[in-house]
Amino acid sequence: NWTMVNIAEESVAAVREQVGNKRAICALSGGVDSAVAAALVQRAIGDRLTCVFVDHGLLRKGEPEQVEKDFVAATGVNLHVVDAQERFLAALDGVTDPEAKRKIIGREFIRVFEEAAREIVEGSGAGSPGTDAEPVEFLVQGTLYPDVVESGGGTGAANIKSHHNVGGLPDDLQFKLVEPLRSLFKDEVRALGEQLGLPSEIVWRQPFPGPGLGIRIIGAVTRDRLDILREADAIAREELTNAGLDRDIWQFPVVLLADVRSVGVQGDSRTYGHPIVLRPVTSEDAMTADWARLPYDLLQRISTRITNEVREINRVTVDITSKPPGTIEWE
Ligand code: XMP
Repeated sequence: NWTMVNIAEESVAAVREQVGNKRAICALSGGVDSAVAAALVQRAIGDRLTCVFVDHGLLRKGEPEQVEKDFVAATGVNLHVVDAQERFLAALDGVTDPEAKRKIIGREFIRVFEEAAREIVEGSGAGSPGTDAEPVEFLVQGTLYPDVVESGGGTGAANIKSHHNVGGLPDDLQFKLVEPLRSLFKDEVRALGEQLGLPSEIVWRQPFPGPGLGIRIIGAVTRDRLDILREADAIAREELTNAGLDRDIWQFPVVLLADVRSVGVQGDSRTYGHPIVLRPVTSEDAMTADWARLPYDLLQRISTRITNEVREINRVTVDITSKPPGTIEWE
C-alpha cells in the first residue's frame, strides 16, 4: 500500500530527527499500538532502542510468547523481559474490588517498568568517563490520535486508559516522549504494522484492557483461576478464528465467575464448579457496543469444548446486554 509506505518512511525519518544519536526505551504491552510504535522506532534508531516487556502474568494464552519470540523475530528489537508474575499475584492477593485491582496493577506496572528503565539507563554507561555511550533520553509511547483527543477532553475514557500509557514516572527518571502514532487512527496503525512486517496475530489483536485477565476474574485473582480462565479464553478465541469471524467481533471477553459456584453433572457424578461468561461484542469505538449474535453452532462448539476441556467449568453462559447499560468488561 503506497500511502502506508510513505507514512512509514516519513515517520522513521521524523523519529531519527527527533532522537538523533541518543537512546530510547519503550514498554511493550503485547498490544498493537506499542508494538507498531516500537517497530517504527527500531527501524529509525536500531539498537539504540531497548524495549521492556513486563510479564505480569495477566495476559492470555500465547501472548507473552508473541512478544518474546514473534515480535523479536520480526523486528530484531532489543528486548528486556521482566518476569513479574509473583510480584503481581502477591500485590493482588485477596483483592476483589475492580478499581482496587486496577490501581494495584497500574502501580505495580509503573514500579516494575521504572526499575527496569533505571537498570537500562545505568547499564548504558552513559555519561561515565571513558565511554562513548549516549544517554537514554527518550520514552516511546504508542499514543494514537483518538488518545490525544480524549486526553484533551478529560473524558472518562482517558482516565480509564491513564495507567496504560506509562505516565507518572518519578522526577529523577525524566524522559522526553516519542509518539510516532500521534496522528493515526487504529486502522492506519494496523496497516502500518503490516507494512513493517509485524505478525498478523499482533497486528489484528483485539483491544485488551491494561489490567488484563485481572479484571476478568470476578473475585480474587489467583494463579489457578488465571490458568482456568486462560484455557477457556483460548478455546473461545480459537473457535471464533476457525469460524472466520475474528474481524467481525470488536472484543470477546471471557469472564470467570470465580466466587460463584454452579452444580452440574458429568458421567454419573455431580460436579460443583464455576460458570463462565462469554461476552462477544460488536462496536466502533468501545463507547457503545452491541452483543454479538454469534451463530448457535459456534456457541455450541465453544460450550462443549470448554466444559469438556476445562475441568473446573461446568456451565457456559452468554451475556446479551448492550452497552449501555452494560459495560464491555464485567469489572
Ligand atoms: P468498558 O468495560 O468500560 O470498556 O465498556 C471500554 C473499553 O475499555 C477497555 N478497558 C480498559 N482498558 N484499562 C484499559 O487499558 C482498563 O482498566 C480498562 N477497562 C476497560 C475495555 O476492554 C474496552 O475496550
